[in-house]
Amino acid sequence: MRPIRKAVFPVAGLGTRFLPATKAMPKEMLPVVDRPLIQHVVDEAREAGIEHFIFVTGRNKAVIEDHFDRQFELEHTLTERQRRDELELLARDVPAPGTASFTRQQVPLGLGHAVWCARELVGQEPFALLLPDVLVQHNRGCLAQMIDAAGDLPDSANIIAVEKMPAERLHMYGVVGIGTRKGGLFSVTQMVEKPAREKAPSDLIITGRYILQPEIFGVLAAERRGAGDEIQLTDAMIELARTQPFYGLEFEGRAFDCGSKVGFLAANIAYALERDDIAPAMRAELKRLLGDG
Ligand code: UTP
Repeated sequence: MRPIRKAVFPVAGLGTRFLPATKAMPKEMLPVVDRPLIQHVVDEAREAGIEHFIFVTGRNKAVIEDHFDRQFELEHTLTERQRRDELELLARDVPAPGTASFTRQQVPLGLGHAVWCARELVGQEPFALLLPDVLVQHNRGCLAQMIDAAGDLPDSANIIAVEKMPAERLHMYGVVGIGTRKGGLFSVTQMVEKPAREKAPSDLIITGRYILQPEIFGVLAAERRGAGDEIQLTDAMIELARTQPFYGLEFEGRAFDCGSKVGFLAANIAYALERDDIAPAMRAELKRLLGDG
């Protein structure tokens, strides 16, 4: 497969499940421990070798642009106070000049539409798509695992990350059918959005990380409405799968759906427990809360 240099981050949704927290602040800026969700996902992309970061923003999202910019007043104050650690921390997160682009989805018409809004910035090359409300905890990031797996695949291949889900929850997700399999990688035989329990082709759901060919933009251009009257990415992938192969990767690591309250809170605990500086205190606090301490 051709190299994957660009990643798209759709951050224009309304975040209704987190209202009122998301009334004036985008969901993607909610912190998991001390880094916004979007920063965790950008870090994952950077670790995978991505060189250009494309954000599809919407209303109230200027703060995301500011987050990935330098903050001269703050830097000046920190320099005066000789707070070197904090200065280094801030410098690490800012993309190199010219490597971050922002475009607007004027109306949140659905994930498929948000992806289509990035077409001019992506151009004619395969790209990664990362949903910032999914975090995957593992020492090798999910996108890096996908790019590793992409090496031997044909140039026209699309890859989607998948994870196991209990049968009673499959009806809430996109579910894939499994063809020929080699390790964690398999050919996708079908994709079904929100299947009835008895119709689910497997127990593997589409998880928020994709490597897509630019031909997806041609399909999305038709602006066909699907479930919830939104332009759905899964519908476009189903159509693209008629002419291009799709592969699924059952990645290693634990995924957190931070678009849901419980998933978000669980991610905060899990990420705190892997941090040497706060894990002992966090563990003690959890014990107390659960009544064992
Ligand atoms: P979600 O459906 O999880 O996000 O979309 P949402 O719509 O903001 O959240 P709820 O359901 O109302 O609580 C997954 C990702 O796609 C982006 C969101 O910002 C999120 O990162 N998205 C979704 C867009 O950029 N545009 C859209 O029109 C829809």
